Amino acid sequence: MLSDVTDLLACPQCQARVELDEGAILCDIGHSFDVARQGYVSLMTGAGGKFDGDSTEMIAARADFLGSGRFDPLMDAVAGAVASGAEPDGDLRIMEIGAGTGHYLARVLDAVPSGRGIGLDVSKYAARRIARAHPRAGAVVADAWQHLPVRDHVLSHVLCVFAPRNADEAHRVLSQRGSLVVLTPTDRHLGELVELLGMVRVDDRKVERLGAAMSGRFERTAHVAAEYPMSLSHLDVTRLVGMGPSARHLTPDRVAASIAALPQQSPVTASVTVATYTRL
Ligand SMILES: C[S@@+](CC[C@H](N)C(=O)[O-])C[C@H]1O[C@@H](n2cnc3c(N)ncnc32)[C@H](O)[C@@H]1O
Ligand SMILES: [Zn+2]
Repeated sequence: MLSDVTDLLACPQCQARVELDEGAILCDIGHSFDVARQGYVSLMTGAGGKFDGDSTEMIAARADFLGSGRFDPLMDAVAGAVASGAEPDGDLRIMEIGAGTGHYLARVLDAVPSGRGIGLDVSKYAARRIARAHPRAGAVVADAWQHLPVRDHVLSHVLCVFAPRNADEAHRVLSQRGSLVVLTPTDRHLGELVELLGMVRVDDRKVERLGAAMSGRFERTAHVAAEYPMSLSHLDVTRLVGMGPSARHLTPDRVAASIAALPQQSPVTASVTVATYTRL
């Protein structure tokens, strides 16, 4: 719930500490942000960002796909990365940026019983799910590319799973020796479905830019690869397509025809790396 993480949040207007009071997040000088009926708070500033994030349909497809268990080994890899370096009863303060449905954050919080977590996403449809994802998770709408509504140096872990990585902000909000855990797909991830998913190769310059933003401020302290074959039904593939950006690019008829042409069970590879960067 939001009350579990309010002490970690900052006012997006003035960066002061905030409190949760009668259904609103408030700072000392009176900036106020209503908590939505569904339990999340939007701490966006200005006239809304450039990004709307995932639509309600994309989030629903993602929830169904993740609920099928096909990506459980990926969630376990992220949870393992957090749990392995942590004191079992330490006060873990975690934030997932671009948390989507909150499935990964929930798995992490299950693995660290003393932990609590902020699930941040620019999509309000995501935030609605995150608010229900775990009793120790609070849901916040904010743009990963802006100054995040989180106090300086208060977090033990920042997670980025198939989501935007803002190394500057991760550095600011993490405490010293805190961890940035990044899950990145390899070139083989869902490779069998490249055309259907309209996947774009990871931009090499983007990887370089992240490396440059990290250098001197983080050191890579752990690196785990997770790769395994999946056997996906037409329904699984339909959900996978629906949760990605290709849902915006292909006509529904084209998607349906391509899926109908697949075998009943398609072999598809899951392949990612989970890297832990320790803040210096
Ligand atoms: C590919 S999904 C990954 C979701 C989740 N981590 C998972 O793996 O299931 C990317 C998520 O990042 C969110 N997102 C995209 N741009 C964002 C931004 N600028 N700030 C915050 N979240 C953003 C989307 O709304 C979406 O929920
Ligand atoms: Zn304020």
